[in-house]
Amino acid sequence: MTGAFVTLEGGDGSGKTTQADRLERWLREHGRTVVRTREPGGTDLGLELRQMLLHRRGHVDPRAEALLYAADRAQHVATVVRPALERGDVVLQDRYLDSSVAYQGAGRVLGGDEVRELSLWAADGLLPDLTVLLDLDPTVGRGRREGDGTRAAWDRLEAEADEFHGRVRRAYLELADAEPERFLVVDASLGVDEVAERVLARVRQLPGIADAAAPGDPTSTDPAGTGTGTGTGTEG
Ligand code: TYD
Repeated sequence: MTGAFVTLEGGDGSGKTTQADRLERWLREHGRTVVRTREPGGTDLGLELRQMLLHRRGHVDPRAEALLYAADRAQHVATVVRPALERGDVVLQDRYLDSSVAYQGAGRVLGGDEVRELSLWAADGLLPDLTVLLDLDPTVGRGRREGDGTRAAWDRLEAEADEFHGRVRRAYLELADAEPERFLVVDASLGVDEVAERVLARVRQLPGIADAAAPGDPTSTDPAGTGTGTGTGTEG
């Protein structure tokens, strides 16, 4: 079996977890061993770094932040992702280097290219076979608080946050444009089942996975392995 490396990218609330669950189920039903993982925090060291990155109080310099994400990535790729790919497993990963380019680059202190170079160095050059970008208007994804009495006091901060997340979204779309063969961009405002079908249609074409999804496959009438669920896919 050939391993495959699939990453999911997108803003908060774009539905990455739901889509990864669907895809994992389909892959397992087709006999694949799936490693579900994420960054930051896919290793023991990474969990400590994640704690620092997401929960530590106080200012962190943008270069220090970029290096912490890169350190998490280096450990994760070397000890989890590459060994899994070498075993022939499918690695299904929530966020990877495109997150660094989009988020650290959107802070406007660091350039996207230098962040990408740093990430590629950390990962010793490993790029995904497929990156699914779940594209969503960030104000939808983050679920704006309407009619909340504290709203006025938060307007300036929220506007800044909206602007930042707007830059993240644009950066992601530029990355996808630059590497159309690696990226699949899906409109995440579509229903969960529709998104799942589009993702699966592309995953089935990956070398190694194509064999598992041969015509006449008994599950091919339910290509997304969706059962009956419907929804709008707002969870992260
Ligand atoms: P997480 O709780 O995993 O959020 P989500 O459910 O949206 O994936 O938090 C990960 C956060 O870390 C998210 O806000 C994006 C950010 N991040 C970066 O800024 N750079 C990176 O390289 C990675 C991997 C994540």
